[in-house]
Amino acid sequence: MKEIVIESKLFVFENLDKLPKPSQELMQKAIEARQKAYAPYSQFHVGAALLLENGEIITGNNQENASYPSGLCAERTAIYYAGSKYPDVKIVEMAISAGSQLKETTEPIPPCGACRQAIAEYEIKQESPIKIYFMGASGKVAKSNSLENLLPLMFNKEAL
Ligand code: THU
Repeated sequence: MKEIVIESKLFVFENLDKLPKPSQELMQKAIEARQKAYAPYSQFHVGAALLLENGEIITGNNQENASYPSGLCAERTAIYYAGSKYPDVKIVEMAISAGSQLKETTEPIPPCGACRQAIAEYEIKQESPIKIYFMGASGKVAKSNSLENLLPLMFNKEAL
């Protein structure tokens, strides 16, 4: 038997002001998108902003539905739109902010597993890492230099 240890690296910033200016601005776009989320069932609002290599910024937020599984997370709303509008343009960076209307969310909230898998698809497709910043509604901001750090042992097209 062989033991395999998997490590992943994250960086944590004390607050939004500590981020490089362009990343702060991208996170501000994610926060604005979060404020427009449609989440009447969970009261949990998420916003995502993507910076593309051509300078374009794409935002998205969670869209819920009375038939719960028909809703979609903010990250996938944004990345699928980017993929549909700019199929050949690389995604450089992603910022995510999540906040509940029911309690304070001051710790970084990472993207869900399904969104990690969706982001992984684009990172593999474009053959370059996507930087991901994520936070709650306020407080610390975590950063991963690539999606790979957030999804060890990911399922990918090599298996097909
Ligand atoms: N949600 C996101 O938008 N992104 C995530 O990564 C986690 C969850 C949304 C889905 C649903 O509308 C609400 O948050 C509660 O799960």
